[in-house]
Amino acid sequence: MGMLQELSYYLKSQSTSIPRYIVEQTVMSLLGGIPSLVGIGLRGIAYKALLKSEGLPLIEHNVRLLSPANITLGKNVYLDSGVFLNALPGGVHIGAGTSLMHGVIFHVFNYRGLPQAGIWVGKNCFFGEYTCIRGQGGVHIGDGVYTGTQVQIAAVNHVFTDPDTYIKDQGITAEGITIEDDVWLASNAVVVDGVTIGKGSVVGAGAVVNKSLPPYSVAVGVPAKIVKDRRDASAIRKQVEGQVHFGELEKLRS
Ligand SMILES: CC(C)(COP(=O)(O)OP(=O)(O)OC[C@H]1O[C@@H](n2cnc3c(N)ncnc32)[C@H](O)[C@@H]1OP(=O)(O)O)[C@@H](O)C(=O)NCCC(=O)NCCS
Repeated sequence: MGMLQELSYYLKSQSTSIPRYIVEQTVMSLLGGIPSLVGIGLRGIAYKALLKSEGLPLIEHNVRLLSPANITLGKNVYLDSGVFLNALPGGVHIGAGTSLMHGVIFHVFNYRGLPQAGIWVGKNCFFGEYTCIRGQGGVHIGDGVYTGTQVQIAAVNHVFTDPDTYIKDQGITAEGITIEDDVWLASNAVVVDGVTIGKGSVVGAGAVVNKSLPPYSVAVGVPAKIVKDRRDASAIRKQVEGQVHFGELEKLRS
C-alpha cells in the first residue's frame, strides 16, 4: 500500500469525510481538554454540531470521539472523562439518561463494512469504569442495564481454522450480542459473540457468558452456569432492611 492510500485509510478510520475531519479535530482540540462546568457547557453547545444529540450532551474533558457524525446521544447522556467512542459506519447510539463512566470504550471498528455492525444502547443504563464493548457483529442493549467495572462485551471472534496462517489474517465472524432490559453484569464479566442475555438477568463477577441466558437467570462462573432464577423467592438471599442504601441522585430521579 502506498503512503497516500495508507493516509486515506487512516482518515476513513477517524471521520466520515475530510472536511468533517478538519472541523471535528479543530473543535475537539480547542474544547476537548477544558475541565469543569465551563468545559462541559462549551462542549455541550459546540459538539451538537459534530454529533446528533437530544438536548445538550454532558461531556467531560478528554473524551475521544471518532466519526462523531455516526454518534446519537439521547437527552442527559453523560460521558465521563476518558470515554472513547469509535463510531465507524453502523455507529454508536446511546439512549436518554445513560451514563458512561471513566475509561469506557464503545468500539465499532467496522472497517470491513459489516452491515450489522454498531452499538445500540437503551435508556437509563450505567456502564462502570473501563467497560469495553466491541460492536462488529452489532450489540443491542435494552433499558436500565448496569455493568460493573471492566466488563467486556465482544461481538466478534477471530477465525483460526488454518494453523499455517496468522490468526489475525484469517478474518472474523460477527453474529452480534443482545442484552435485554434490566440486566446486571457484575465486574469483569465477559460476554462473547452470539449470546443473548434475557431480561432481568444477573451475571456474577468474573463470569464468561458463552451461551444465551433465559430471562431472570442468575449465572456465575467460567463458563457461566445458571444457579438460580430471580423470580424464585426461596432461592434469593434477602437483603436486611437498613443495610440497603440509596444515593441522593437515585432519590432525586425517583
Ligand atoms: C452473583 C452475586 C451477585 C451473588 O448472587 P446471590 O444470588 O447472592 O448468589 P449466592 O451468593 O447465593 O451464590 C450462589 C452460588 O454461586 C456461587 N457464586 C456466587 N458468585 C459467584 C461468582 N462471582 N463466581 C463464581 N461463583 C459464584 C456461590 O458460591 C454459590 O455457589 P454454591 O451454591 O455452590 O455455594 C455475587 O456473588 C457477585 O458476583 N457479585 C458481584 C459483585 C460486583 O462485581 N460488584 C461490583 C458492582 S457492579
